[in-house]
Amino acid sequence: MKLDFENKIVVVTGAGLGIGRATARAFANHGARVAVVDLNEEHARATVEAITAEGGTAAYFVADVSEEEQVKKFFREVLDKWGRVDILINNAGIYYQGTITSTPLAAWEKVMAVNVRSAYLCAREAVAIMEKQGGGVIINVASEAGLVGIKGQVAYNVSKAALIGLTRSLAVDHAPSIRVNCLCPGTTATPLVEESVRRSGDPEKARRELEQIRPMNRLGLPEEQAKALLFLASEEVGYATGAVLSVDGGYTAQ
Ligand SMILES: NC(=O)c1ccc[n+]([C@@H]2O[C@H](COP(=O)([O-])OP(=O)(O)OC[C@H]3O[C@@H](n4cnc5c(N)ncnc54)[C@H](O)[C@@H]3O)[C@@H](O)[C@H]2O)c1
Repeated sequence: MKLDFENKIVVVTGAGLGIGRATARAFANHGARVAVVDLNEEHARATVEAITAEGGTAAYFVADVSEEEQVKKFFREVLDKWGRVDILINNAGIYYQGTITSTPLAAWEKVMAVNVRSAYLCAREAVAIMEKQGGGVIINVASEAGLVGIKGQVAYNVSKAALIGLTRSLAVDHAPSIRVNCLCPGTTATPLVEESVRRSGDPEKARRELEQIRPMNRLGLPEEQAKALLFLASEEVGYATGAVLSVDGGYTAQ
């Protein structure tokens, strides 16, 4: 199977760290020109520097993807720079721990804005561009938490379930020219997860607990999620749309 993205323009949101950074690097390593979008300029610049050092092509765009005007602006800038958008990876997201009684309305709305409104805003721009071009691919990064109810994180779970719904709706509305798929990662060893393990009272125990709840008995790697995104974006799987792919070490298979 050939994962070839030569000359494709790929937008990755939340590409300053973690899964987004690994994904931006993976697409660039397979020939794409990558728009690295992130709230954090320093991290976005570091992703572009890593890609450039590997011989790839990327540029960064600083934006809060939950804000309509900022989303419109960076899509205009990407079009000015490269003239098209072939692939959008809606990856930016935040986590919030809390049951319904310990999740204040402001926290609920923030999670919905960053995880769901952002995907709506970015997909709306991308669909308009892709319809004019005659095609494209959108992938939403949801979570295992969108497929099952994980205890004590109601806002996050609901936001990720919404992304699965968004994927299916966009897939049926915009087939056959635009394919829309969804990745559901399981817990992945990104800096954020590693940091929360480190901060827990007993890091070794915290890590073991995260690992042992899944049949594969380990955390995922950002590079493994990135490869799954390359696969879903590839024309080698051009018949896949509305698909929801779990890469979670078997967690949701239990
Ligand atoms: N790491 C995991 O275990 C895991 C598991 C399942 C799903 N996910 C999902 O994968 C995606 C990436 O996760 P990660 O662990 O790599 O996250 P991370 O926190 O390591 O990185 C997220 C990036 O998104 C950026 N970001 C946050 N809010 C933004 C906003 N409003 N506008 C623009 N950029 C913003 C951050 O600056 C950061 O660079 C998220 O959607 C997350 O919910 C992660």
